[in-house]
Amino acid sequence: MDNTIIELKDVTWKTGNKELLKRVTWTVRPKEHWALLGLNGSGKTTLLNLINGYIWPSRGSVTVLGHRFGEIDLRELRQSIGWVSSSLQDKLYGTDKAQIVVISGKYATIGLYERLTDEDLNRAEALMRTMGCLHLWDREFRTCSQGEKQKVLIARALMAGPKLLILDEPCNGLDLFSREKLLESIGELTRQEQAPTLIYVTHHTEEILPVFGHTLLLRQGEAVRQGATGELMNSAVLSEFFEAPVQVDNHDERFYVRVT
Ligand SMILES: Nc1ncnc2c1ncn2[C@@H]1O[C@H](COP(=O)(O)OP(=O)(O)OP(=O)(O)O)[C@@H](O)[C@H]1O
Ligand SMILES: [Mg+2]
Repeated sequence: MDNTIIELKDVTWKTGNKELLKRVTWTVRPKEHWALLGLNGSGKTTLLNLINGYIWPSRGSVTVLGHRFGEIDLRELRQSIGWVSSSLQDKLYGTDKAQIVVISGKYATIGLYERLTDEDLNRAEALMRTMGCLHLWDREFRTCSQGEKQKVLIARALMAGPKLLILDEPCNGLDLFSREKLLESIGELTRQEQAPTLIYVTHHTEEILPVFGHTLLLRQGEAVRQGATGELMNSAVLSEFFEAPVQVDNHDERFYVRVT
């Protein structure tokens, strides 16, 4: 049984005559958490669409959670993948309480149409506690701040028990302190038993927590470098990656980039 989480082999994705992903080869193994770093338009979201089976490779092969695309039911696969992005926020019912937003994640519905069971309530409570948002249990979703909403949405994604959890720029729009709190909750999540494999997508190196031991550097659709985060987060590698001189400072295993 193939137990790799994600395996892309020589994947190209074209639309019209434009190649948005170019010969990407990438393997994510069990127990690894990955950061995916790239500038605007580098192809990060396109890569996530591919992993979720919303787009199909023009060439190369895609295997996710041991299933090769073309051989499995994608709807079934998607139930094992959680995907949190800020665009999801607008799709949910703002007047639902946070607990309903979380519990309905089990059924992947907007709004809850199933009867509440004790089991669901207990699980939602535990997940909201892990994410540090249990105090929002009875709050209308629309009244939550941006950072609070992101925590609720991560708890929602976990409700379905995914094996893979993708966080697409979860700290967008957060102030310095909300961002740190959200990152702390994400760190807490990774310490849980049964934590899913995490893929953390970002523009900012300082958001990459030490638990994200591997990083993929994506530029103009190409996987420029990949490997141990600590080996990539230095001035030489990132200046080459950004094609501009930058200075990287390491504080407590977090990496801060300055344009020089
Ligand atoms: N369906 C499409 N048709 C044509 N071009 C597309 C399509 N989807 C994305 N693109 C283009 O492909 C490039 C990569 O887009 P993508 O959304 O993957 O970037 P990204 O790395 O997620 O950027 P950001 O950090 O801004 O979210 C962009 O130039 C975008 O305009
Ligand atoms: Mg994107």
